[in-house]
Amino acid sequence: METTILTKKDVEKILTMEDTIKAVEHAFEMHGKGLTQMPPKVYLNFDKGDLRAMPAYLEGKAGVKWVNSHPENPKIGLPTVMALLIYNDPETGFPLAVMDAMHITNMRTGAAGGIAAKYLARKNSKVFGFVGCGTQAYTQFMALSMIFKIEEVKAYDINEGNAKKFIEFCESKGVDAKIRGIEEVCDCDVLTTTTPSKKPVVKEEWVSNGMHINAIGADAPGKQELDEKILLRSKIIVDDLEQALHSGEINVAISKGILEESSIHATLGEIIVGKKPGRLSDDEITIFDSTGLAIQDISTASIVYKRAAESDMGIKIKFFDF
Ligand SMILES: NC(=O)c1ccc[n+]([C@@H]2O[C@H](COP(=O)([O-])OP(=O)(O)OC[C@H]3O[C@@H](n4cnc5c(N)ncnc54)[C@H](O)[C@@H]3O)[C@@H](O)[C@H]2O)c1
Repeated sequence: METTILTKKDVEKILTMEDTIKAVEHAFEMHGKGLTQMPPKVYLNFDKGDLRAMPAYLEGKAGVKWVNSHPENPKIGLPTVMALLIYNDPETGFPLAVMDAMHITNMRTGAAGGIAAKYLARKNSKVFGFVGCGTQAYTQFMALSMIFKIEEVKAYDINEGNAKKFIEFCESKGVDAKIRGIEEVCDCDVLTTTTPSKKPVVKEEWVSNGMHINAIGADAPGKQELDEKILLRSKIIVDDLEQALHSGEINVAISKGILEESSIHATLGEIIVGKKPGRLSDDEITIFDSTGLAIQDISTASIVYKRAAESDMGIKIKFFDF
């Protein structure tokens, strides 16, 4: 029995956003039905960073993502985040594949933003704002552009070079895109925030009724991108309640006692399966608080494994002598 090894280049070649959206929506649906296993992330903490294990099971698919975060790595020419995923057969436990999970993480995060906006944003949303134009902004744009007819992109980043590269990317996809000041960027139908900020970057007075916000950047305790007053005016949907309370956009407001756990409206899965209503009027502000779930990774890995098998891609290794 052989294990397939898939590099980042392999995953980039075979994983489409269309497949990722289907896989991730299915994962949220299973989560909404209570049919997933996803124990809390396990952390090893070091002076310069951490390592996290993210195991999950859903419907015949199982595995674990093993991912680091070392913010000083770029100084020595390494990325901050590197990730591998072991994809197992839950029938026997056999490791079917070991694959890059950096691209999987970016794609599944984009897909989650797209799916959240599909269920929560106003259907006629046309103007899309992006605060933060790094890695995650690209896959957020890719997923949103598969779901909406984007007429205009407005983008802001403290690093103008990153904003410029991002708008060039949007323009290359045929969308009118411009760099704007942060306040003007927030004047939009769907706002996506993807900064690693530890203090609010979006002010309450810039947010108008009817907007949908994908708050993607906060995924660790102490991180936040939105003024807490925005949370108090909005319908908040989380990917997973336990993770969001610990490390999502809401974590700071909850720990300060500004926001009550009981004010969290639903998980995205609950909205998808119809257990809870989504947007009820064009005036509501909806927020999707994304922390990133292991079930998104494993569901996406199952598609990568399937596509790799179909195209005979990857190196096959016999790890064991049976
Ligand atoms: N929710 C999830 O599932 C998920 C998944 C992956 C990454 N993340 C988080 O998303 C954030 C961004 O990740 P990335 O991979 O895109 O990082 P990145 O370093 O590639 O991009 C971050 C961008 O934000 C910009 N930025 C920083 N502070 C800013 C500010 N105050 N205002 C405007 N722009 C600012 C930077 O200049 C950079 O361009 C991180 O916090 C990361 O941990 C979340």
